[in-house]
Amino acid sequence: MARVVAILLAVVVAATASASLLAPAAAELTRVEHPPKTEGSLNILAVGDWGRRGQFNQTLVAEQMGVVGEKLDIDFVISTGDNIYDDGIANTSDPLFKECFTNIYTSQSLQKPWYIVLGNHDYTGNALAQQDPAIREVDSRYLAVAKSFIVNSEIADFFLVDTSPFYLKYWNSSKYDWRNVAPRDTYIETLLKDLDDALTQSEAPWKIVVGHHPISSGCEHGNTTELQQLLRPILEAFYFPRLRHHLF
Ligand SMILES: *[C@@H]1O[C@H](CO)[C@@H](O)[C@H](O)[C@H]1NC(C)=O
Ligand SMILES: *[C@@H]1O[C@H](CO)[C@@H](O)[C@H](O)[C@H]1NC(C)=O
Ligand SMILES: *[C@@H]1O[C@H](CO)[C@@H](O)[C@H](O)[C@H]1NC(C)=O
Ligand SMILES: *[C@@H]1O[C@H](CO)[C@@H](O)[C@H](O)[C@H]1NC(C)=O
Repeated sequence: MARVVAILLAVVVAATASASLLAPAAAELTRVEHPPKTEGSLNILAVGDWGRRGQFNQTLVAEQMGVVGEKLDIDFVISTGDNIYDDGIANTSDPLFKECFTNIYTSQSLQKPWYIVLGNHDYTGNALAQQDPAIREVDSRYLAVAKSFIVNSEIADFFLVDTSPFYLKYWNSSKYDWRNVAPRDTYIETLLKDLDDALTQSEAPWKIVVGHHPISSGCEHGNTTELQQLLRPILEAFYFPRLRHHLF
């Protein structure tokens, strides 16, 4: 979604660490293990729509994230996509990457893993470059390890879902990098099945689904018909509340 201001959302999840470390590995989705603090708490920041070379107040938001990040002693950051405007990065050595990420999020408290999904603006560039291990040699925090993946934090499982391919109108444009995605129907079918399996198998008390696009929204872009039809039924089975703005 095209938005001018980066959003910053602090989420504090504290619950008894009751989840089993031995939850069975689900279907196909890549998993990252990120245990909570020893006393069982987990503090994270989430941000989306940010990569503006510091402009559009990105730097100011980054500074405040640094302050809040230190106060909360955050464990990691989640990015909900539109990481690099306007058209993602061209390759893993594109200077835009450092200008939008490395050189902006310099606070000590933000030197943590960033778990990242792509937004539509990332898809109109080289979408694969953001996932390439070579990008992590440029900045090891940048963990867009797969298009969709799971972060297991014992008290919470985060399901990062690649929502751009759902939008039919994007498929009408030649600007999108659908390598490793097309054909759409197969991709979505596999993704939904893997997500459903992973949600079913998750034993974490908190199951948090993260994606770039809203399912239902009262703001300018409105509801996403494709997500309402395809994704929402899976989430409703887990009694998710109605969600605003991002899926988060
Ligand atoms: C940055 O934020 C200030 C308010 O703090 C606002 O006046 C200004 O328009 C913003 N700049 C941009 C480019 O959005
Ligand atoms: C990577 O992208 C940048 C920005 O478009 C370009 O200047 C550079 O030549 C590209 N490098 C390679 C190795 O393709
Ligand atoms: C995609 O393009 C076709 C053919 O031009 C058109 O009929 C259809 O409405 C478009 N779909 C969307 C979602 O924009
Ligand atoms: C958007 O979705 C919500 C929830 O399903 C629904 O109540 C609302 O009427 C929808 N809005 C539009 C404009 O279709």
